[in-house]
Amino acid sequence: MQMKLKLTVVAALAAVTGVVMAQEAVVKIGHVAPMSGSQAHYGKDNENGVRMAIEDLNAQKIKIGGKTIKFEIAAEDDAADPKQGTAVAQKLCDAKVAGVVGHLNSGTTIPASKIYNTCGIPMVTGAATNPNLTKPGYNTTYRIIANDLALGAGLASYAADTLKLKKVAVIDDRTAYGQGVAEVFAKVAKSKGMEVVDQQFTTDKATDFMAILTAIKAKKPDAVFYGGMDAQAGAMLRQMDQLGLSGVKYFGGDGICTSELIKIAAGTKTLDGVICAEDGSSIAKMPGGTAWKARYDAKYPGQYQIYSPYTYDATFVLVDAMKRSDSTDPKKYLAKITSTNMKGVTANIVFESTGEIKNPSMTLSTYKGGKKSALN
Ligand code: ALA
Repeated sequence: MQMKLKLTVVAALAAVTGVVMAQEAVVKIGHVAPMSGSQAHYGKDNENGVRMAIEDLNAQKIKIGGKTIKFEIAAEDDAADPKQGTAVAQKLCDAKVAGVVGHLNSGTTIPASKIYNTCGIPMVTGAATNPNLTKPGYNTTYRIIANDLALGAGLASYAADTLKLKKVAVIDDRTAYGQGVAEVFAKVAKSKGMEVVDQQFTTDKATDFMAILTAIKAKKPDAVFYGGMDAQAGAMLRQMDQLGLSGVKYFGGDGICTSELIKIAAGTKTLDGVICAEDGSSIAKMPGGTAWKARYDAKYPGQYQIYSPYTYDATFVLVDAMKRSDSTDPKKYLAKITSTNMKGVTANIVFESTGEIKNPSMTLSTYKGGKKSALN
């Protein structure tokens, strides 16, 4: 009798648990960025943004298709390498993630976007800024920040119109991002009457810039523009100092506009002459920026770089479309991303039909006195 009762209780419990389990579903969201190598600090910051969004979303116990959804991150490392970028994109397709936040570099994001399009998975980048990303017109590709047309032009206007600089030397790291942003800068600078006195190239792995900086010094520029990332920019600033180029202004896009630049430049005087552009509002001017940043810093002390508020919002963009379509199936919710109108931390997010964000803003910053501060 007692045995029978026990069995009944177990059976009843199993039934109840079964019901609970049937009402829950795990949905995976992919994230890709460089998590190793000299760009790992950007990747960590981006991934933190997605992890924080997923924690916040899970706390809401969101119901989609009658089930409470437990979101999980499928985190991948592309090492900022285009080949590894496409390999992990295929891996996320095979794993049938519901959507992807990423990638970080234009050089990895552009080829990966083709793979996501083929497998029908939406991707939202919060960091890759080369305008060519949205050119193929894939309905799976979205970007929630300004692109390099805005950044390069904004920097060139500041150099020519505000600072009245005449001569600039341009260096880029030959990546899709570095080359692209340098081309936009040079084109707008020339159209505003500036002279591009020298053009030099490096790579996103280089550490020694003495030869190209010595060649540039002979041309006596008022400014150097660098299209590339902070590891190279920081080392270049130190080497410019050694060559007596500390009075020369140093311009760059979002790739150099990080907190890490202060550490890498290590107190060199040339850091004072840096002017860089970010792809949106400064944290202080974002609708939810200050409160969000305080929460981020409490969770991930000392790890903030630049893009994490955007990867946070990008995760919410995907889930917002899932909620509006009552489906986590990319084939069903994809169509709803185009009609996004979401109050994010970074901005009110609405997309152009191309997948670019509508009304992007842009912020110029300096590092005077070793502290990053916004100019606008
Ligand atoms: N904005 C940089 C890129 O597009 C990170 O590669």
